[in-house]
Amino acid sequence: MKLTRNCFLVLIFCCVASQANSENNSLIQNVPGRAPQSLNGKWNYIIDPYETGYYDYRYKPFDEMKNPGNGAFFLDRKPKDKTDLIEYSFDDSPTLWVPGDWNSQDEKLLYYEGTIWYRRLFDYKKTVTDNRVYVHFGAVNYESDIYLNGKKLGKHIGGFTPFNYEITDLLKESGNSLVVKVDNKRKKESVPTLNTDWWNYGGITRDVSLVEVTKTFIQDYKIQLKKGFDNEITGFVQLNEGKAQQVVSINIPELKITIIARTDSTGKAIFSGKLKKIDLWSPENPKLYTVEVLCGENFVTDKIGFRTIETRGTDILLNGKSIFLRGICIHEENALRGGRAYSAQDAQMLLNSAKELNCNYVRLAHYPHSEYMVRLADEMGILVWEEDPVYWTIQWENPATLANAMQQLTDVISRDKNRACVIFWSMANETPVSDARNEFLKKLAVHARLLDDTRLISAALENHTNPNNPNEKIVEDPFADYVDIVNFNQYIGWYDGTPEKCDKVNWIIKYNKPVMISEFGGSALQGKHGDAQTRFTEEYQEDLYARTLNMLSKIPQFRGVTPWILYDFRSPKRVLPKIQDGWNRKGVIGQNGTKKKAFFVLKKFYDQMEVKYK
Ligand code: GCU
Repeated sequence: MKLTRNCFLVLIFCCVASQANSENNSLIQNVPGRAPQSLNGKWNYIIDPYETGYYDYRYKPFDEMKNPGNGAFFLDRKPKDKTDLIEYSFDDSPTLWVPGDWNSQDEKLLYYEGTIWYRRLFDYKKTVTDNRVYVHFGAVNYESDIYLNGKKLGKHIGGFTPFNYEITDLLKESGNSLVVKVDNKRKKESVPTLNTDWWNYGGITRDVSLVEVTKTFIQDYKIQLKKGFDNEITGFVQLNEGKAQQVVSINIPELKITIIARTDSTGKAIFSGKLKKIDLWSPENPKLYTVEVLCGENFVTDKIGFRTIETRGTDILLNGKSIFLRGICIHEENALRGGRAYSAQDAQMLLNSAKELNCNYVRLAHYPHSEYMVRLADEMGILVWEEDPVYWTIQWENPATLANAMQQLTDVISRDKNRACVIFWSMANETPVSDARNEFLKKLAVHARLLDDTRLISAALENHTNPNNPNEKIVEDPFADYVDIVNFNQYIGWYDGTPEKCDKVNWIIKYNKPVMISEFGGSALQGKHGDAQTRFTEEYQEDLYARTLNMLSKIPQFRGVTPWILYDFRSPKRVLPKIQDGWNRKGVIGQNGTKKKAFFVLKKFYDQMEVKYK
């Protein structure tokens, strides 16, 4: 069989996805709803910049050897006796908190990019002998090799999406050794690639847990309104095994409905059911229903909202009603702690601040944030944009890079497809137009629509200045034909001129689609004051916000905006002493949690838009 380019792509795609052992390690839906046992806490760690614990002196990986010997850290060995040479010891090594990035936990690791080994010992007694057990990671940045009791479970690439491995056959009742090699080195072929304007936090950055399930269990399900219908539920239930004719049922007690379906030979049951009356989810009424999914002894309960989202001409319709998206961009960081956000409390802090701005929408930039964030947005009634970390200039022509971007997109859609708050899948941010780039993004968009046809597709598209008229900005991007909403970033008044330029600029946007501005803004050091012409003062930023919102409001298709950004955030690209000091200062809230003057300009504008679209 001659391998065509597409066969080759599929081949790579499968490799990246299934580098684990033969068990079914597809993502388990709704791990929080399965009474997981947490492995969070203090883990011993070993810094290993030369990857001494992974490669022998001939640079051969130990985990590919029949007898790797005493140099292989994943074996977590201890000297048998005083003559035995072992040159590492997790027991005697310091600890790091998991979940958490390593950079903010130890001054000497602030700028560290490379390999760190983590080890966690745990006991586990199954509740039912016949049950299966999985280890689940919320996310590990960036590349991770996972081992249990000296056996390799798999390798995961991508820093912002979950993964799990079955460990049933390797598990002991006590003294299990879980070893994770984490490497956050930036690489050209990676997604994201070498250059980003955010801190490359490394580590086991989200929860780690053990999930015990029955031998045959409900691995995945999707339960949402049928596209274009507000009175019909549709979806699937996927078992972990290809067992046919298994009866599954979906119960929504509050709606007094039970839908019964049978699995096919792949263990998948497709279903749909009519609804009499349903309370649709919206920011004003974030109604979540308790939904029970059952198959034999196995059941899982979830909280799911139902809403419709679509575009009609230049309008965005939520439950059939035109909406203006009052948003803000958020990085997954707790600025007050100066580290990766990872907990329900961090999510609460960030979304509370967005609510104080009177937002009904947030752009989670530039990568998938934690499940806590998305589930809390569901509860709080905040609409969400989720993004594949295809940022700036990645390797468009590298099939492995495409497979990687596809996998991360697949995983975030898989994890969050039941969240009513999520209305956007974004393919990319500020990527330069080229044939290879267009092809790459098209493939992602087609893939996303295949996985989920109920949500809107977008990206932060390109725009340019009319070469004959500096005050004319044109939004023109070949990829705009593949998106539902035209989003673009613009920095008039910061990277492009000064704020008064906003008063003169005219936007040419020839798309009969809703238009949103996915970023605008300027930096201000909180507490630095002066006249509105002085950069980095709160007055400059305040003036820039006022003039920009006025400029954007002249765009007829203008249906939403997410200024850059809610909080100041760490970036190694920001080096201006006494002003930036390793922080991007474009937040409307400072590093210390204090609101800047621009915060109130934006809130006032949102209060007006709320009334206008009531
Ligand atoms: C870009 C980019 C952001 C960046 C911002 C900035 O548009 O998307 O990631 O932080 O501009 O320059 O502050």
